[in-house]
Amino acid sequence: MIPTPHISLKDKSLIAKTVLMPGDPLRAKMIAETFLTDIVVINEVRNMFGYTGKYKGVPVTVMGSGMGMPSIGIYSYELFQFYGVENIIRVGSCGAYTKDLNLYDVILVDDAYSESSYAKTMGLTSSKILKADRRLNTKAKKAAEKLNIPLHVGRIHSSDVFYNLKGSVHEERFNKQGCMAVEMESFALFANAKALGKKATCLLTVSDSLVTHEATTAEERQQSFTRMMEVALEVARKSK
Ligand code: HPA
Repeated sequence: MIPTPHISLKDKSLIAKTVLMPGDPLRAKMIAETFLTDIVVINEVRNMFGYTGKYKGVPVTVMGSGMGMPSIGIYSYELFQFYGVENIIRVGSCGAYTKDLNLYDVILVDDAYSESSYAKTMGLTSSKILKADRRLNTKAKKAAEKLNIPLHVGRIHSSDVFYNLKGSVHEERFNKQGCMAVEMESFALFANAKALGKKATCLLTVSDSLVTHEATTAEERQQSFTRMMEVALEVARKSK
């Protein structure tokens, strides 16, 4: 059933088996231009930018997910279900819930806790914790080791709320649910992968801290972003 409501592309061979998904569509453009060769622009994605190119000879698509679970939920579902995508690796940023994380640290998500109703509403599960794909994570750990990039591996919080009126929810999420950081997309991505028998994981860089209130600037983000991308691209290469 292509085209789909949000991806009006008629030729599914233009989408690679592995998709890297940053939240920001402009990030997708930057990733494609920085890391991929032989780039084809996929103009047919509603509200997003998509690109397919090659990384060390392996086809990879990069596409923005938009912010939040409803948005990544729509694009990742259509890619998995209708465009033959097997692997989606989200590459994003997060806020630290513990002082053990420093700005720029790279996190490999082991599982995502969420109070979101996404998985329950779609009829999948009422579990509040969903796992990243073990095979992709093994590849990510191996790649990071080979590239000498330190990874924090653990649980993150997928939140629906960026501006929270209850100032300090991070303490409860860290102490009770064991979440080391917060972002807003992984839980829905993992739900779709589980629902459709596909693979998904997520790599994050720490862009701010809810404990120390430090934050990175856009320029400063670049270097840690590159380290995260090297791991993500290696996973894509090994998943061909
Ligand atoms: N909250 C939610 N998502 C985020 C944050 C945050 O503080 N930082 C980066 N992504």
